[in-house]
Amino acid sequence: MTQSSLVSESPLWAPSERLITHLRHVDLAVPDYDKQLKFYTETWGLSAETTDTGISFLAAEGSPEQYSVRLRKSDQKRLDLVAFGAASPADVDAMAARLIASGVQLVTEPGIMNTPGGGYGFRFFDNDGRTLEVSCDVAVRKHRKVEEGESIPVKLSHVVLNSPNPEQTVAFYQRHLGFALSDTLGHPHMGEVMWFLRTNSFHHSIAIARGPHVALHHASFELRGLDEYMRGTGRLLRAGTEKIWGPGRHLAGNNTFSYFLDPHGNTIEYTTELEELDEDTWHPHLYDFSDPEVTDQWGTANPMDELVASQSFNDPDKGCFVAPPV
Ligand SMILES: [Fe+2]
Repeated sequence: MTQSSLVSESPLWAPSERLITHLRHVDLAVPDYDKQLKFYTETWGLSAETTDTGISFLAAEGSPEQYSVRLRKSDQKRLDLVAFGAASPADVDAMAARLIASGVQLVTEPGIMNTPGGGYGFRFFDNDGRTLEVSCDVAVRKHRKVEEGESIPVKLSHVVLNSPNPEQTVAFYQRHLGFALSDTLGHPHMGEVMWFLRTNSFHHSIAIARGPHVALHHASFELRGLDEYMRGTGRLLRAGTEKIWGPGRHLAGNNTFSYFLDPHGNTIEYTTELEELDEDTWHPHLYDFSDPEVTDQWGTANPMDELVASQSFNDPDKGCFVAPPV
């Protein structure tokens, strides 16, 4: 197996040059808003920090982010937005200027934001037409330490995106946004299928998956530790939430996983212990995921087969190159 020439194995931006500091939130639009809100608050364990008619901002108790998930009522199910943080208005402006110079289409110019916590940011389309946001100076939410045994999300861990042109999409995030390749999953017959990308020392904040269409692959939430992750997995199972894969521990990123479907068929994950790596010495691996030790080091998860894989293809996203209304 060889890596596509579009994908760069070594970082194109040095860590000190990066303008994106971290992942902030993932925003979903859904037709059955009430059911979705009830699931994400009462079952998944997020807190409805701010709600209005048809829109809600859901915080993870352990996170200083104003919100980790935004839900919006819409006739069309779609991924509204993936949001990233920057360190300063100067960095936000520099990111926007770089994108404009590279011919990337902005949705909004850098400016004051009206979402909870305010701040300064802008939106743009990635190469597949997803809306992304980069912002800074958002007020810090009064968060708290998640206690021992408490099986609720501490924070949003990572977001994985399906793309029918994954090599181009990986190249976009590397070239324009400064993400670095941490590892790749490949298969002797399928070639490369997933690329893990970092924007700080965590193994991945974003991953790009080869899929039949543009869609959210999954959003992952960090639990406090192994015990809380297992308690959360069990709590979801007892609640009758459809589990598609897990519990287990991946080799790439060394994080644990339990994947479930939300009421609209989006895959969401409980994880913990995502690897932090030494960026100065790290070299990306190309792992063969036909080896069961690669998908699950523990051997506790149901086997990764075509059915499991296809459940996270999700529905074709209705929001490509259409910015969300709010
Ligand atoms: Fe994940």
